[in-house]
Amino acid sequence: MAPSGPASAQPPVSAEDVALVRASLAVVAPHVADLAAYFYHILFTRYPQVKDLFPAELDVQRERLVRALLRIVELVDDPGNLIEFCSRLGRGHRKFGTQSAHYPAVGECLLQALSHYAGPAWSPELAGAWQRAYTAAAEVMVRAAEEDARHRPAVWDARIVDRVHRGHGIAEITVQPQQPYPFVAGQYVSVETPWVPRQWRHYSPAHAPRPDSRLTFHVRAVPGGKVSNALVHHARLGDPVRLGPPEGDMVLRSTKGRDLLFVAGGTGLAPIRALIEQAARDGIGISQEVSLFIGARTADELYGLDDMLRMSQRYHWLRVRAAVSHQRIVGLEGTLPEVIAEFGPWYRHEAYLCGPPQMLGGAVAALRRHGIPPHHIRYDPWDTPVLTAPLGPPQPEEETDQL
Ligand SMILES: Cc1cc2nc3c(=O)[nH]c(=O)nc-3n(C[C@H](O)[C@H](O)[C@H](O)COP(=O)(O)OP(=O)(O)OC[C@H]3O[C@@H](n4cnc5c(N)ncnc54)[C@H](O)[C@@H]3O)c2cc1C
Ligand code: HEM
Repeated sequence: MAPSGPASAQPPVSAEDVALVRASLAVVAPHVADLAAYFYHILFTRYPQVKDLFPAELDVQRERLVRALLRIVELVDDPGNLIEFCSRLGRGHRKFGTQSAHYPAVGECLLQALSHYAGPAWSPELAGAWQRAYTAAAEVMVRAAEEDARHRPAVWDARIVDRVHRGHGIAEITVQPQQPYPFVAGQYVSVETPWVPRQWRHYSPAHAPRPDSRLTFHVRAVPGGKVSNALVHHARLGDPVRLGPPEGDMVLRSTKGRDLLFVAGGTGLAPIRALIEQAARDGIGISQEVSLFIGARTADELYGLDDMLRMSQRYHWLRVRAAVSHQRIVGLEGTLPEVIAEFGPWYRHEAYLCGPPQMLGGAVAALRRHGIPPHHIRYDPWDTPVLTAPLGPPQPEEETDQL
């Protein structure tokens, strides 16, 4: 495989290439899991040196590479968002220790795996089309990573300096990065722990930035969850963790007089709490009303409610409501999507949502039915955000001569 060079030296990805690549993906799509396993097998056999970059158990993640390729091919007619997607992916790969020189190896093994599962549909023309498409995407990733490396580290070393149990398997974990850690309220951070090396998980600081750069995460131990259980049950003061750069688009924006609606399920309250703290700092509540809905299955699981009620005593503009879905209580009963659908009207609000994927999907749909346009509903998905994060509307070709 040709090494990556400057974009201008590469043949462009033509409409014919796109048609060929799309048609071949339809052929291999039913075999994604096997294809991914085969790809990693060839990669680790031919290039054993890259194996150390990957976690010991790849079961959960190994289809992500193929899912990313599917997304790239989907976006190929939308070059602006394609560049945005590949750039995020490239920046996100810095923390894994990925080097530019690894890309040709991955491309070679990927093509080998694709040819294996495409069977008779594979041809020299198809191989050429895949080669050009992969190279174009890889170049954007490499360029974005190189650009990112000019102004910030790939990872921040940090130590756990506090751990407070909040009951029901939730702990507040505070870490102190060794270097300043700039982020914006509402963003999330990828975290690698010493107990499960190379398994990165995302957690959201539950506060606006602090002068000493300390970060407090609210972590819920999920049943069978490797990283969350280690953090909640095994972490000790002084233990090291590594942090990736802050990510995510759910940050406060100028809302031009729109009132604010916050919706939080479970530990999704963490970034929402950060946004409310930031709103208070920015003086947003002086002219706007702010409603917060917190949801859980049972009243016991409504973690953080007392804290938010205290905040609402401090900030008269903050209205807090809590709902539970699996228990009869005095108060709001139902899932968050059901409960917010009963209130409103919301069409003049800017909405910020965080929580498990099912809640998020239902709540976004309920708010859309209430007439909030999509660009006034902000959230970061909890399912591999780099793959599923919303992109902007399709962007015109002339802005995107990089591919
Ligand atoms: C943008 C973003 C922000 C996040 N912020 C937070 C946060 O602030 N606090 C927090 O506690 N978590 C947060 N998460 C979830 C977190 O990143 C991990 O997914 C979670 O801690 C589980 O990791 P694990 O290694 O323990 O579980 P794994 O070992 O990865 O998974 C074990 C099992 O648990 C299931 N599982 C994974 N995640 C969940 C979940 N959230 N609920 C129920 N079952 C699950 C898996 O399907 C699997 O069956 C966030 C996720 C994203 C994408
Ligand atoms: C076009 C090329 C590539 C694509 C589309 C791609 C895609 C992805 C995706 C989607 C993830 C999951 C990221 C996340 O969960 O945040 C991932 C993870 C990872 N990638 Fe890549 N990748 C590419 C190239 C490479 C290369 C060249 C290497 C270096 C060997 C590499 C090494 C890794 C590692 C170590 C991980 C973390 C472990 C894992 O989650 O599997 N990737 N990649």
